[in-house]
Parts: sequence; structure tokens; C-alpha cells
Amino acid sequence: MDDYSRRAFIRTSLPGLLGLTMALPGITALATRANACSGRIPQDGAIHWDAFLEAIAREAGRQHLDDWNEAAYVATAAAIVQRLDLDSPELKTAFEQAKAGVGNQRVDFDHLEKQRDFQISFVQFEKGEEIRHHDHPGMTGVLLCATGTVDVWNYDELAPQPGADTLLLKEISRAALTKSDVSTLTSKDRNIHRLQARSLTQLVDIFAPPYNGERIARSRWFKVDPEPFQGREGLFEASLG
Ligand SMILES: [Fe+2]
Repeated sequence: MDDYSRRAFIRTSLPGLLGLTMALPGITALATRANACSGRIPQDGAIHWDAFLEAIAREAGRQHLDDWNEAAYVATAAAIVQRLDLDSPELKTAFEQAKAGVGNQRVDFDHLEKQRDFQISFVQFEKGEEIRHHDHPGMTGVLLCATGTVDVWNYDELAPQPGADTLLLKEISRAALTKSDVSTLTSKDRNIHRLQARSLTQLVDIFAPPYNGERIARSRWFKVDPEPFQGREGLFEASLG
């Protein structure tokens, strides 16, 4: 069962999104791997899809080390994904093909890559579509806005009050992301977010570690009171569901 599709999405099988996956060059291209590994790509230069996967795989693989630092990882991963050449013919074609899903009245979601240490997903919103408040248990997330404009709100969960049957979410940030902007979360910080598109928007989402059965089972969705809790700015009462 997919991570998101079980709760919030109907996994699409539209030709457009399948085309996106197929249009992306495969990581098995040996020449590309050699290129990415040998460091011949300039540190600040644009990188293509294969080099991007290679770089993320290398960084995400560090999560098993004792000195793994989520905040440092998401900063590095954000810098890597911001180098992804969104104007490359392959990606431009892929994102155009994905627009075949436009008009279906739902957020589209598809896997682009899944490996042991990370997964990369594609998300497409039409104007006004949203993904409501949810968390990412034990995971980091780095999302890149590839096209369009999307509002992203991030929250921390406050320690539960004894006996309370509701939760309190503290808004940590809100941002309008446009092309090449990035939003990050770690398992401890900003782990809950909500997204709503101002226009047709396409995202590339990197999760490390990837979703598995246990993380899917622990995922939570929240119903959030839009009014600040007791009039306290940035604080919102929420319940699960
Ligand atoms: Fe999310």
C-alpha cells in the first residue's frame, strides 16, 4: 500500500505521470554514475537527474552512521536538489507530460525513485488543491517546488497536556514556494506541515528514510482549528483524524 494514497490520494495511473517516470533517465546509466562519482560536476553547477539521485543516495546513506545529523542532512539535500537542472529537456518534458493529470480534481502523486535509504516522490496540485496537516514519523523531508507556487505551513507539536484529548500545534514557518524554492523538515523539527497550491504546482519530494509499513502506520493526519488557541498567535488546537 502506498504511503499517501491510502489516506489522502488516489494513486494515479494516468499516462502523463507514468510518462514522467519513464521519461527520467535511469540511474543505471553507467557513464552518468561515473561522472557524478568522480566529482567532475562543479560544486555549484546544475546537475541532471542521475547525478541528483547519486548525490542524494550518498547523503541519505549516512543516516546509519553514529554521527548522522538530520538538520545537516536536510540542509545538504536542499542544496543538492536546488542544483537539479529543472530546465533540462528531460525534466521539462517529464513535467509537461505530467500535466495530463490536470483536471482530475485531486492531488496527483507518484513515485520517482525508491531505495533503501530514501524515496523521491512527485506531487502535482491544481490551483487551490491542498494536502492537509499531516506528519512524517521518524523521517526527514526535503521538497522542491519545480513549477508553480505553493503555500507551505510547518508546525511542531507541543508536549501534550495531561488528560487533554486534543493536541497543540505551534506554527514554525509559512512560506510561498516558487520554482527552485525548498522546504525542509526533520523528525524533530517542523515535522508537521500543510500545503496549498496558488497555481498549478509540481513538487519533487525527498524522504529519508523512505516510507515503510511501520512509518505509514504511525503517520497522522490532523483536524486543525483555524482560529488561534485561546487567542495565542501561532498556536492551534488539533485533533487526530
Ligand atoms: Fe508531507
